[in-house]
Amino acid sequence: MKKKSFVPLLVAASLTLGIPAAYAKETHTPAAQSQQAFDNKIVKRIKVENIYRDITILSSEPRVAGTESEWNAVQYIEAKFASNGYKTDIQPFTFESYQAPNVGVTVADTSVSSDSITYTPNGEASGELVYVRLGTAADFEGKDLTGKIALIKRGDISFSEKVLNASAAGASAVLIFNNSPGALSGTLGAPNNDFVPAIALSQADGEKLAADLEAGQAISATVSVTGGGIQEKTSHNVVAVKEPSQQKKATNQIVIVGAHHDSVPGAPGANDDASGVGVSLELARVMSNMPTDTELRFVTFGAEELGLLGSYAYVDSLSQDERDRVVGMFQMDMVGSRDAGELVMFTVDGQKNIVTDLSAAAGVRTGTPLTYGQEGRSDHVPFHYAGIPAALFIHDPVEPWYHTPEDSIDKISKEKLHETAEIVGAAVYHIVRPDTPALEKAKVAPKPVEYEKVVGGLQ
Ligand code: BES
Ligand code: ZN
Repeated sequence: MKKKSFVPLLVAASLTLGIPAAYAKETHTPAAQSQQAFDNKIVKRIKVENIYRDITILSSEPRVAGTESEWNAVQYIEAKFASNGYKTDIQPFTFESYQAPNVGVTVADTSVSSDSITYTPNGEASGELVYVRLGTAADFEGKDLTGKIALIKRGDISFSEKVLNASAAGASAVLIFNNSPGALSGTLGAPNNDFVPAIALSQADGEKLAADLEAGQAISATVSVTGGGIQEKTSHNVVAVKEPSQQKKATNQIVIVGAHHDSVPGAPGANDDASGVGVSLELARVMSNMPTDTELRFVTFGAEELGLLGSYAYVDSLSQDERDRVVGMFQMDMVGSRDAGELVMFTVDGQKNIVTDLSAAAGVRTGTPLTYGQEGRSDHVPFHYAGIPAALFIHDPVEPWYHTPEDSIDKISKEKLHETAEIVGAAVYHIVRPDTPALEKAKVAPKPVEYEKVVGGLQ
């Protein structure tokens, strides 16, 4: 769905040919420094040292959604936006998070090494071990395991079926052993009140117990599963708003610049995505005192790494009227890696839109031609599905440090950050400055540019 209010102006221009006829005549030589005064209002004010410092601070520890370190990042980001005069809001949202339990197995007073099985209930049990082979319904036929612990071999049916069959036969717990060497990392799929505590054993330990039981030995065991389960956690988005400074000329439109502030566990997330947050903070500073006729919003999202939870929560919170007024969403995610490729714009449907058009034009004016392609995997996705033109800015191919403890500040390139800040800053400013989207009245306007589609998606 296209924004109706926008059609007569920018969208109509750029979605057809990308240009009102008046600008088609203009000739431009791509240059390292834009020849447009309006670009330079932004470009010349960007201080890459500010971006680098913010990334250094944010990436001092992983910022996993729902943890104190994510909350510390949220407060830092909010305070920075507020100090630049933005109206800020910290938007909480909840999500469910699974915590793996501590498990223990003791057989004849000796501890046996064991692993947890995802979604096992907590509990403790002691009793006689009974070997029930693969734990199928047939294996349990005629057996009463009340007060006993079932020993079951991996294979043929799912772990959850094995546990439900054991539970139906009265077992108070289940030990499932592997059918091949190596660790068994199993899941019951989802929580179920009919489950009994279930723990994984190695093939060697399980086969030995099974053989002893089959030889007629009586073996008793104690199992314990503690501290596991689903917890409700809270993550937050940071929203910073700059209302149009020129209320009389106000377009009633909104532009959103986004990044995510959370990281995966164990990764400092300097590039993913403290880089996008750092560039957002600097663009917010640079634009804070600029005259504007369009509402500018910077949003940093929480829990992106858990499935774009923050951006879905944010888009859900927008009224239909607000959604209709958002003319573009610029998502910066992984925009500063020394070891990644070129800056590429990705849209969910692989089509150009107002965001890619304006940014490609800004890229030519500031000396960096851009390409575009098709990819989801970041916070532009929920905006796209809400009918809002959106694009992800990312370097392609991505660096080898992605989602590792090596995603640290020493891999960050100031040049890459600077280039992204210039392009996104110039493109955003092109919409929010008072001369546009009344393009026909602008003294200077971007020349439409050709830009190539990269095929094969993000690597
Ligand atoms: N920054 C990445 C996005 C990304 C895209 C990285 C393409 C590498 C290549 C983002 O933070 C991320 O990791 N996204 C998740 C998907 C999301 C829906 C949980 C991913 O790509 O696994
Ligand atoms: Zn990311």
